[in-house]
Amino acid sequence: MMKTVTCTAPVNIAVIKYWGKRDETLILPLNDSISFTLSQDEMCAKTTISISPTFKEDKFWLNGKEESLENPRIQNCLKEVRRRASKRKHESGVEGTLNWHIHICSKNNFPTAAGLASSAAGYACLVYALGQVYGIEGDLSSVARQGSGSACRSIYGGLVQWYKGEEDDGTDSVAQSIAPPEHFPDLRVVICVANDGRKKTGSTIGMRRTVLTSRLMQYRIQESVISRTAAMKKAIKEKDWSKFCDLTMADSNEMHAVCQDTSPPCVYMNDTSHTVAALIHQYNDVKTTSGNVNHKVCYTFDAGPNACLFVPGAVVGELLGLLMRAFPPSPTQNTDTYITGIPIQPTDLTRELKSLAEEDGQPTGKLKYLIHTKIGDGPRDLTGSSTSLLDLSTGLPK
Ligand code: DP6
Repeated sequence: MMKTVTCTAPVNIAVIKYWGKRDETLILPLNDSISFTLSQDEMCAKTTISISPTFKEDKFWLNGKEESLENPRIQNCLKEVRRRASKRKHESGVEGTLNWHIHICSKNNFPTAAGLASSAAGYACLVYALGQVYGIEGDLSSVARQGSGSACRSIYGGLVQWYKGEEDDGTDSVAQSIAPPEHFPDLRVVICVANDGRKKTGSTIGMRRTVLTSRLMQYRIQESVISRTAAMKKAIKEKDWSKFCDLTMADSNEMHAVCQDTSPPCVYMNDTSHTVAALIHQYNDVKTTSGNVNHKVCYTFDAGPNACLFVPGAVVGELLGLLMRAFPPSPTQNTDTYITGIPIQPTDLTRELKSLAEEDGQPTGKLKYLIHTKIGDGPRDLTGSSTSLLDLSTGLPK
C-alpha cells in the first residue's frame, strides 16, 4: 500500500540577487532575480517521501537526524501541495492518499559545514518530491517559494528568472526558465569555500533589517536593480558574455553594499572574499588587454564569504592554477583534495599571471577547498532506481 518517490534538486546561484521581501509569510520579493542552476553531479539535495495508510504519524529526517515537521515553512509547502492535490480528488484514488501520514527523509550530498546555502536545493527537492507523490501537474515554483524564496529558482534548469509578481496573493510570483543550460556553451563554475568561523546573520533576518533601515536599498529597489535586470536580460539574449560578467559583479557588489548600509550592518564577505574579487578584476584586465573578452571571469557572493565564479571552459584550468598559487592549499592537502568536483589539472601560469598571483599571495589555508562544477538541469525523479533513502517495506531511514 505504501507509495514512495525519490528525487534530487539542484543548487542555484543568483546573478541578480533576491534581497528583501514585500510579504514575509508568502515570501514575495521586492525585485525580480535571475540565477544559474548548478549541475547535480557535484551538488544536490535528495529527498525520499513515503505515504502509507499504516503510518501512525508524520515524520521528518534531515541529514540523518529526526527533526520536527512543525516548521511553518514546511507546513506551508505541505498545505499548498495537498490543496492542489485535493482539487483533483475525483481522479484515481488521490483523495484517500491525502489522509495518509507522510515520512520525509532528506539529505544534501555536499557538506553543510562548507556554509553553502542548502535551503534552496532542500526546499526545491521537498516540493518537487511532494508534487510527484501526489501527482501534481503544473508549476511548482510558487510552492517552493514558500519554503525559501531562492528555492523557487531551483525548480528549473539553466538560466532562471524569478518574477516578483504584482498580486497580493503571490500567484504571479513564479520562476521560469529563460535559457537552457547550454546557452553559454562550456561554462564552468568554481566555488571558493572560505575558511571562516564567524556567525553570520541569516538571510531572512538580514534582508528584513535591510528593508527597514537602508536608504541605499530604496535606490536599489526603485532604480538600479530594475535597469540592471533589463540590461542582464539583454546581455543573456545577445550572449554578450563580457556585459554579463560586469552586471553580475555589479549586482553582487550592490547587494553587499546595501547589507553594509543596514543598521546594524550585515557583513558577509571577509578579507579572503575581497582578495578573490580583486584577483578576478586583475585577471580580467590581463584577458581584456590581450583582446579576448570571451575569456572574462565574474564573481558573485551570497550571504556568506564564499566566492562563486563563472568561468569560460577555455580558461578554467588557468584560473584554477591562479587560485592555487594565490591561495595555497594547507600542507595536509594535495591538488585532488583541494580541487573537488569535475576532475581537472590546473594549467601552468605565464610569468605575468604568476606575478599577479604572488602580488595577492596569501598564507596557506585561507580557502578550505574549491568546487569545480558546471551549469545543470532541474529536479530529477529517481523513483525506481535503488537510491531510496527510506526502506521500501518499513518506510524508515535505511
Ligand atoms: C543572498 O532564499 O535564503 O542567496 O526567502 O528568507 O528563505 P528566505 O531567503 P533565501 O535568500 C537568499 C538570498 C541570497 C540571494 C539569492 O539567492 O538571490
